[in-house]
Amino acid sequence: MEREGGGEDDIVCLDGSFFINDDYQLTKFTFGSQVLELFCLHSASTDFDLTGQLVWPGAMLLNDYLSKNAEILRGCSVIELGSGVGVTGILCSRFCHEVVLTDHNEEVLKILNKNIELHTSSENRNCTGLVAKKLEWGSSTQIKQILDEHSGGFDLVLGADICFQQSSIPLLFDTVAQLLHVRRGQCKFILAYVSRAKILDAMVTNEAISHGMQISEVVGTRTIVGNLEGVIYEITLQ
Ligand SMILES: C[S@@+](CC[C@H](N)C(=O)[O-])C[C@H]1O[C@@H](n2cnc3c(N)ncnc32)[C@H](O)[C@@H]1O
Repeated sequence: MEREGGGEDDIVCLDGSFFINDDYQLTKFTFGSQVLELFCLHSASTDFDLTGQLVWPGAMLLNDYLSKNAEILRGCSVIELGSGVGVTGILCSRFCHEVVLTDHNEEVLKILNKNIELHTSSENRNCTGLVAKKLEWGSSTQIKQILDEHSGGFDLVLGADICFQQSSIPLLFDTVAQLLHVRRGQCKFILAYVSRAKILDAMVTNEAISHGMQISEVVGTRTIVGNLEGVIYEITLQ
């Protein structure tokens, strides 16, 4: 059977890069007293897997919360999951001892590294200990590599707007469990959750509980971000 516009052996001379928009714009963000500039897109790509090229409402919520409560971060070692362009991790690096920003998408890792470079250059020395690593949730090899390099684990695991795909939520919680386990009782997962579907709201709570975690809403953080409801959760291993 022939497809419209060509036969089955039709050759299309366009590689994947043709479809990637990397026309990033240097953009200023203000979170309380913190002003931060980084490269990002202003509208989402049509590729479902390139969500990380722009700053999401969950990052706005988390960064507002962290800038108002910077004592949570002071001197800490932090790992961020699904960092995207890095707006949360880069803000944290102004207060933390070290910040490992992670993502699974190669294209996103490129812009993440560019933003890290921007913030660790000589005129921008207030950001220290920033590094980007590839981490696909559920990958035991990648998490092992990170934990081999950070054998003491982390004080905080952060995530902004990373619960929007049903199939990835159990894998996300597997990874969070491994990270929390290293410093059981001393490490917490701060998740800025943005509600887009009731089924996902329930799934986040259920996955936390089924992984032996305690999940609690941080009082006063439930708010409208964009046109959606967001909340900050603190999640610990019981
Ligand atoms: C909606 S974006 C949020 C980006 C950023 N945290 C923010 O709030 O602006 C979700 C991010 O998670 C990453 N991500 C999605 N699924 C992932 C997975 N299975 N493993 C690791 N990262 C993933 C995406 O590449 C993207 O950067």
